[in-house]
Amino acid sequence: LFSAVELAPRDPILGLNEQYAADQNPNKVNLGVGVYFDENGKLPLLQCVQAAEKKLMDTPKPRGYLPIDGIAAYDDAVKKLVFGADAAVYKDGRIATVQGLGGTGGLKIAADFLKRLNPGAKVLISDPSWENHRALFSQAGFEVDTYRYYNASTRALDFDGMLADLKAAAPGTIAVLHACCHNPTGYDITAAQWDQVIAVVKERQLSPILDMAYQGFAHGIAEDGAVVGKFVASGLDFFVATSFSKSFSLYGERVGALSVVCSTKEEAAKVLSQLKIMIRTNYSNPPTHGGAVVALVLDDPALRQQWEEELSHMRNRIKQMRAKLVDGLKAAGVKQDMSFITTQIGMFSYSGLSKDQMVRLRNEFGVYGTDSGRMCVAALNDKNIDYVCQSIAKVV
Ligand code: LMR
Repeated sequence: LFSAVELAPRDPILGLNEQYAADQNPNKVNLGVGVYFDENGKLPLLQCVQAAEKKLMDTPKPRGYLPIDGIAAYDDAVKKLVFGADAAVYKDGRIATVQGLGGTGGLKIAADFLKRLNPGAKVLISDPSWENHRALFSQAGFEVDTYRYYNASTRALDFDGMLADLKAAAPGTIAVLHACCHNPTGYDITAAQWDQVIAVVKERQLSPILDMAYQGFAHGIAEDGAVVGKFVASGLDFFVATSFSKSFSLYGERVGALSVVCSTKEEAAKVLSQLKIMIRTNYSNPPTHGGAVVALVLDDPALRQQWEEELSHMRNRIKQMRAKLVDGLKAAGVKQDMSFITTQIGMFSYSGLSKDQMVRLRNEFGVYGTDSGRMCVAALNDKNIDYVCQSIAKVV
């Protein structure tokens, strides 16, 4: 049965974890996967999460099946977080939200739903994009193409290219857009540029999916969510995939969501019924724990405040590490101007290093980033940064 099965290549991101785990180098540093580590190099278990778990354990609940679309209080808390509790779109019941298995799970539900809705549509992702975007939409049966986003020679955004490629897209094309903290480049478009993108999406009748895996990591919860408000104001129907992996440091719990903004309440009810079929036929219904924790934190004013403080601490520490990286590279003898690292935002820096240089970093120094040159600056700390800078200096 399996004699013709070929060995698949390692995953370009999560595959690095396997390689890193097997690496014997005592100085090894994992800047591959997008995971935040604290100042001591430890994966944090947030105080708000610990407090919520304690509360949940004080009144232990049996673990029956959840509804197909997840915990109702969780879905509601996601809507309020992403769209605003006072937003008309929320109050009017025009949003269909389902609990998803992380942001990836949310995207996959969207992909499966869209494949049934518009099977011939093409998907456009940014060039470059999160490595899994292409794979995920291809696996769902779509032809995946790219819109320009980044100019490697100027190490900056190619906004004109982005706009031109979206303008050239056929109606119905699915446009996957990064709401904030663009992965992998770390370059976001400005609010004024979003207005232009939204105008083109509307004019060309594209189907937008906002991938929001890093809300709170650029400027703040509300600031990073402002783009969602712009889409709502435009009157477009659209998708938002939410992840709490990074913002709650709940990577392994797979807590995320998919929200679909519809034109009417009736439409939202119909869309929800279809999303539930996608879920039921894939994994039946979501798990209980992570969603319960996040719902509790988002709904409890004290825990919510604690979460926002912890999130802002993570955000600020990453920014400090960016500045230290720029200084450290200079001190280590890197001649080229690396100050672009502090204009990038979020967890990643697109370093501009070539695949060969990234492979050397990994093999000779145990410093892991993706082949594309992406490094997770959220994994840097005062103990490993000098070593990372010296290693980079040796390969550039
Ligand atoms: C990343 O880009 O490293 C993260 O989003 C983790 C993942 O699933 O790829």
